Amino acid sequence: MAYYIWIIINALLVISTIIYIWIFRLHDSQIITLGQVFAQIAIILFIINVNMYFIFLVIRRTKVRKFKITLAKMSRQMMKSHIKLAIIGTILILFHGGIMLVKLGELIGYVNPKIMSGMLAILLLAITLFAGYLRHKKSSGFRRKFHYTSAFLFTILFMVHLFLPI
Ligand code: HEM
Ligand code: HEM
Repeated sequence: MAYYIWIIINALLVISTIIYIWIFRLHDSQIITLGQVFAQIAIILFIINVNMYFIFLVIRRTKVRKFKITLAKMSRQMMKSHIKLAIIGTILILFHGGIMLVKLGELIGYVNPKIMSGMLAILLLAITLFAGYLRHKKSSGFRRKFHYTSAFLFTILFMVHLFLPI
């Protein structure tokens, strides 16, 4: 049951970003549109990564042995691409930020909430990557908490950034 809710929340999240970006925020400029394409792909990759928290949570909580095994296998598969997704997403977002800064920064001002929240989101992404790296090297209670807390803060911030008007 909770499994369906989880799938539906993810689908709604992705669909709402697609509707918002590609219906309400269209631009004539091809380069700005490309910047939006980069961001759209990147946030889907980040959402996949953040889902790891819920998979590990359910693995720890569930009493249904079969379900636990299925999820453990799934998490192992997903963790194989976790770091790759993070790196690809980061590269795409750096291009996104660069394009927006150069093409819109001067026009809307660098202290615009959209620009400021984007830069803050990149800072949190850097912290999340660093925390992920620490966790990858050697896991501990603190490192685990550091990585998922920064990942959550980053997710909240990029969601705010995404839905802010310019
Ligand atoms: C230097 C950092 C950043 C800057 C300057 C920046 C700037 C912008 C600007 C100006 C827009 C509006 C484009 C439009 O008119 O539609 C935008 C849209 C968007 N940004 Fe960023 N951004 C940055 C970082 C990020 C990060 C870190 C993420 C996500 C992880 C992100 C995700 C998005 C998404 C999904 C959109 C599409 C929504 C929309 O078009 O309004 N951005 N960004
Ligand atoms: C976009 C960036 C990233 C996001 C949003 C993200 C998010 C997450 C989340 C939510 C978890 C589950 C935490 C838990 O329940 O303990 C996790 C686990 C993990 N992440 Fe990341 N992560 C990112 C990047 C990275 C990077 C760059 C690395 C390594 C270089 C990394 C390494 C790990 C490791 C080792 C685990 C633990 C897997 C396990 O326990 O088997 N992550 N990540």
